[in-house]
Amino acid sequence: MADHFFSADPASADVRRTVQARIWDRDYEFTTASGVFSRDRLDIGTAVLLREVRPTPGRKVVLDLGAGYGPIACGLAVENPDAVVWAVDVNNRALELTAINAAAAGVGDRVHPALPDDVPDDVRFDEIWSNPAIHIGKPELHKMLLRWLSRLKPGGTAWLVVGKNLGGDSLQRWLTEQGYPCDRVASAKGFRILRATATNPGGSPS
Ligand SMILES: C[S@@+](CC[C@H](N)C(=O)[O-])C[C@H]1O[C@@H](n2cnc3c(N)ncnc32)[C@H](O)[C@@H]1O
Repeated sequence: MADHFFSADPASADVRRTVQARIWDRDYEFTTASGVFSRDRLDIGTAVLLREVRPTPGRKVVLDLGAGYGPIACGLAVENPDAVVWAVDVNNRALELTAINAAAAGVGDRVHPALPDDVPDDVRFDEIWSNPAIHIGKPELHKMLLRWLSRLKPGGTAWLVVGKNLGGDSLQRWLTEQGYPCDRVASAKGFRILRATATNPGGSPS
């Protein structure tokens, strides 16, 4: 059976390793493993997102959509001590690693690793940050994005990094068409950084 990083339970042996990363001027050592996305280093797309966008302070509920081993979730929780961060993934090994990495970063009490269906229905988000799983294919990607964008609070923001050659520009247009006005805030190393906003009351398109 193919062992994709987005398998619920990767078939490969759970061989742990560590990855050093600098996020928003702080050094981290993350535990990663085979069977999770970018186990050998901070992904370049994720690094571009974290370089181009800085978190803002305030009491916030934030979603890291497709958290992997948790670099975005951990960075967000460390930078903003008033934030609660939901780190959602379909890969149980990734969720376990996110919990380990959040605890190591001292934010285990505010980072909640969860399978998509385990996030309580009434949780709404001020922000979504994501290096989304493009490889699941366009229909699944669109379904996933609409599922979570509909849970943004009115005025809430989604920050996404998408490879230009993986459809970053068409995704920008599609998000705007879906009722989430989307602009490109940066472009570097072949990646687009997109900002989509929930403009309508209730946070979901009609
Ligand atoms: C491109 S990786 C990004 C991982 C991590 N945020 C990082 O920057 O290293 C996308 C992640 O999305 C997860 N994923 C795939 N399908 C998903 C879904 N339907 N809902 C949530 N996460 C999903 C994958 O398991 C993978 O960990």
